Amino acid sequence: MTKEVFDGNLKIASSKTSSDNEKAKINPKEIFNQFLLKKRIFKNKEVLSSSFVPGAISHRDTEIEEISNILAPSLLMERVSNMLIYGFSGTGKSLVTRYIAQNLASTAMDKNVNILPIYINCRLENNNTEYRLISNLCTFFGVKVPTSGLSVNQLYKKMVSAVDIEDKYIIIILDEIEKLIQNAGDGVLYSLLRLNESMKHAKISIIGISNNTDLKASLDQRVKSSLSPVELVFKPYNAIEIEDILNVRVGESFYENAMDEGVVKKCAALAAQEHGDIRKALNLLRVAGENAQQSGRSRLTEEDLDKASAILEQNITEEIIKSMTKQSKSILYSIIVVARSKRLGKVYSGEVYDAYIKIAERYGLKALTFRRISDLIADMDYNSLIMSRVKSNGRYGRTRELNIAFSPSLLTKIEEILRNDLK
Ligand SMILES: Nc1ncnc2c1ncn2[C@@H]1O[C@H](COP(=O)(O)OP(=O)(O)O)[C@@H](O)[C@H]1O
Ligand SMILES: [Mg+2]
Repeated sequence: MTKEVFDGNLKIASSKTSSDNEKAKINPKEIFNQFLLKKRIFKNKEVLSSSFVPGAISHRDTEIEEISNILAPSLLMERVSNMLIYGFSGTGKSLVTRYIAQNLASTAMDKNVNILPIYINCRLENNNTEYRLISNLCTFFGVKVPTSGLSVNQLYKKMVSAVDIEDKYIIIILDEIEKLIQNAGDGVLYSLLRLNESMKHAKISIIGISNNTDLKASLDQRVKSSLSPVELVFKPYNAIEIEDILNVRVGESFYENAMDEGVVKKCAALAAQEHGDIRKALNLLRVAGENAQQSGRSRLTEEDLDKASAILEQNITEEIIKSMTKQSKSILYSIIVVARSKRLGKVYSGEVYDAYIKIAERYGLKALTFRRISDLIADMDYNSLIMSRVKSNGRYGRTRELNIAFSPSLLTKIEEILRNDLK
């Protein structure tokens, strides 16, 4: 019985007479083939994620050599300098530092030396206060601590008693260290380094990594002198270097012939304009590939790249803006209002302050000082929303010339977000 119905259905499906049956012309096989065809862009998308660790690091020989030379004496338990490593985002700071730390750890293991490089990303919430950071270190050294209730001094004591029992060199890598300093202040660096004075066997050095080249200037004098870091800057990659790095990644992540000639070159050129940000270049390729895939193509074009660039800029800008405080939002809104009134011409910080006072009042915010506003604008500069340049001494002291840094096509959308969020 079932078989008959089944056969009957098959017959109907293959008949081409009634319009109802036309629908049945959708052929699952075609869908499956399409699926396989679509799948053929990415061989392994994971390779494009920034957490993927590439097999080889190119164009960072000087940096690898310099950092390794600084750290090498730790293998003899000799004290090594603290370091601050700067560079724009996506210039390989985290990759290179972790790579060296891994190699140091394995050399130490081979030679039976007790070196413990510890990598900590301070952007992660569970590392960004002094209490959390030190209790994580305690946990790492095998000391159980409660999630709250102890004083930080007690935490430091517990850590020392667990650590200072044998010769041991602890190298604490604080990646995105500015996030720690923002949340916990810089005293934590001082406290960690001061442990060296009370410990008999163990030593601690710190390697801080930051996107912010002004970081050292912002440190307290006492912190600066106990850190006395060797400072290193990762210069942006140029377009040729980026292309070279991307080609390796593309070979592992995309199928052969998955992109038009010139796509990687163009992507490298775009990233070179963005101070050599490889992370951004990889994101561009991923989004462009997804875009081509969604349109059912198996080949990625330069237009896909343009589209990806617009999508990413919008996403990133919106994300940053949504995460800002109301005060920062009202300042950005003030900048836009003043810029609009000047047909997007140059804007000065004094004018922005005057506009801000009114806008803050309108949205029921307590007006901040000019100085504080300058700090918040510097944050926006850091996040590439605004470009600011010190000009001259104006009515409020140092005047800055401000330019909106995101693309004008996003302006209306962003104004809308700001107005909504400020209500
Ligand atoms: N020299 C390089 N060779 C291969 N991949 C690199 C190189 N430099 C950076 N990358 C890749 O670029 C991305 C960003 O690097 P990352 O170290 O996270 O940058 P940063 O910490 O400076 O923001 C990662 O996916 C990383 O693997
Ligand atoms: Mg990093």
